[in-house]
Amino acid sequence: MSETLVDVKPIDPSKRTWIIATGCVGAVGGVATAIPFVSTFQPSERAKAAGAAVEVDISGIKPGEKLTVEWRGKPVWIIHRTQDQIDRLSKVTDQLADPNSQRKPGEQTPEYAMNPGRSIKPEYFVAVGICTHLGCSPSDKFTPGPQASLPDDWQGGFLCPCHGSTFDLAGRVYKNKPAPDNLEVPPHMYLSDSKLLIGEDKKA
Ligand code: FES
Repeated sequence: MSETLVDVKPIDPSKRTWIIATGCVGAVGGVATAIPFVSTFQPSERAKAAGAAVEVDISGIKPGEKLTVEWRGKPVWIIHRTQDQIDRLSKVTDQLADPNSQRKPGEQTPEYAMNPGRSIKPEYFVAVGICTHLGCSPSDKFTPGPQASLPDDWQGGFLCPCHGSTFDLAGRVYKNKPAPDNLEVPPHMYLSDSKLLIGEDKKA
């Protein structure tokens, strides 16, 4: 059973935030874990309680943008990667703890996302936006290059503010970080070029 969402728009940070209230014990300096949330997303209470799959219109996500929706009470990111961002994935392979998503087979990465981009389509990356260490929500660090808390050869990705874990733009965790695993890729499938179903896949 799926819940249809209409008019999902790109993130508007001014309208709504999502606080990950669980986990993140011992966060450095009490760093806030708020991330922008899609203002128009309004799943029914019934659908949320049932953990229903959610249908998302992805046609409005421009290259380089991220949309966040809720599935089973968790934030799920849909990132429309640019060709440059896709190309940068291969530059960090040697720095990653599990570049081929071979740890915990079937748990963090569905079989159809067992590829360097961890996705069905190279341009769209879908992931649960919760750090695999203690559950904070990593921040977007899409801009490559030197910047605070990141290496000079940063290729774009995510930084968890709680204890400094970093992930590339396929949610693959860097080596020697507190987070043990790559970000979870939830079950998902395309219903059409513009419609994505999160929470079910062709095996369901
Ligand atoms: S929760 Fe500790 S690094 Fe993310």
